Amino acid sequence: MYKTFSINYEWEIVNIRSEAREIAKELGFDELDQSRIVQSISELASNVVQHAEKGLITISFVDCNNRRGLRIQVQDEGPGLVNLEEVAKGKTGQVGETSGLQHVYMLMDEFRQIPVESGTCVEAVKWLKNKPIIS
Ligand SMILES: Nc1ncnc2c1ncn2[C@@H]1O[C@H](COP(=O)(O)OP(=O)(O)O)[C@@H](O)[C@H]1O
Ligand SMILES: [Mg+2]
Repeated sequence: MYKTFSINYEWEIVNIRSEAREIAKELGFDELDQSRIVQSISELASNVVQHAEKGLITISFVDCNNRRGLRIQVQDEGPGLVNLEEVAKGKTGQVGETSGLQHVYMLMDEFRQIPVESGTCVEAVKWLKNKPIIS
């Protein structure tokens, strides 16, 4: 299961947010995790608009080693993000302010940059919490 959205304008983020919330809800994420996912998508989408003009956001369901989750992948053809790890972990940028990418790093379970020839590609994953089966 996956869905791709093109992102060109700030106002498109509103619709992407509400569709992402529906998808997260259907997959079984609780309201708090739905908000974490939606907020992360907002940050990544607004970076596309602000720093790269346009791009694509794909939301997909992942099922890996008995873990299920939701993956957000964002690709753009902008100038490229120099080092996600440094930015996300707060090694660069203004002191005292939490940046958008730092938020994504805090809100999601996995966050990585995928090497591409031009532009930027990042992906973030949120895993569903496996509730123990009581019988
Ligand atoms: N999609 C992108 N393409 C190119 N550079 C980016 C992208 N996203 C983020 N960046 C760079 O990383 C920096 C940090 O991003 P972020 O943490 O979202 O803070 P902000 O967007 O408020 O500057 C940006 O200022 C920009 O230089
Ligand atoms: Mg930003």
